[in-house]
Amino acid sequence: MEVKVAKTAGFCFGVKRAVDTVYKQVENTKEKKIYTYGPIIHNEEVIKDMRKRGVEVLRSEEELDRVEEGVVIIRSHGVPKRIYEKLKQKNLVCVDATCPFVKKIHNIVKKESEEGKQIIIVGNEEHPEVSGIKGWAETPVTIVQNVEDARRFETDSDVKICVVSQTTFNYKKFEEIVEILSKKRYDISVLNTICNATTERQTEAASIAKSVDAMIVIGDKHSSNTQKLFEICASACEDTYYIQTLDDLDSNQLGSAKTVGITAGASTPNNIIEEVQNNVRINF
Ligand code: F3S
Repeated sequence: MEVKVAKTAGFCFGVKRAVDTVYKQVENTKEKKIYTYGPIIHNEEVIKDMRKRGVEVLRSEEELDRVEEGVVIIRSHGVPKRIYEKLKQKNLVCVDATCPFVKKIHNIVKKESEEGKQIIIVGNEEHPEVSGIKGWAETPVTIVQNVEDARRFETDSDVKICVVSQTTFNYKKFEEIVEILSKKRYDISVLNTICNATTERQTEAASIAKSVDAMIVIGDKHSSNTQKLFEICASACEDTYYIQTLDDLDSNQLGSAKTVGITAGASTPNNIIEEVQNNVRINF
């Protein structure tokens, strides 16, 4: 059987960097308690493993308020400016694993708003990355989630506007939104800050799924990007299977397949991908 594993399967650059940062801290910090501000990734196995090594997840700002000492790791999504200030005030050690692509947006928002521009973030209001970005602006921020929000948007005609995007926002939707905003005759500058890691993973998955008899998508069942990946693969390959770990793979499923493709969501660790890949190569 031929097995094709997607090069873009699993962690993107920013998530890998954040996960590595936690394990490095575990090795180097013996005398202090380690916290992550929010779960470092949406994968229960990884969080459990980190907990075993003494890393605790802070789930809210109130939980952070109760911490007296230790190291706090900021995950790839980034945080508002006031969290850095709080960590400093509380004398906590801050280890910043904000993805550099997200940090770049913080810097843009800070600079442009300091120059008096009003900020529009195209993204999902509920997403922690968006609240992080919002927290770097000195001027009012509007979050535009869809074309309806864009149509409704209005402000004083003499205000200058800067538009940025959540890194994982859909490019096509971003374009539609920008087109609507641009027609409103404001002085508007647009910065496309979408990261292409997600698109690249989806494009590669689709092209592999098209060329194989069966396709395996690995990821946490709550991970929305894995669900999306599964939909993309399933529409290109009828025999597509969604598994969380090797245990979910039924040996009968791949029976007659001569070629099998494997991809994985952004929060699937490499060891799980390798385990599945090795097993498929040996046993099918
Ligand atoms: Fe990942 Fe950073 Fe892009 S976290 S999706 S590489 S913005």
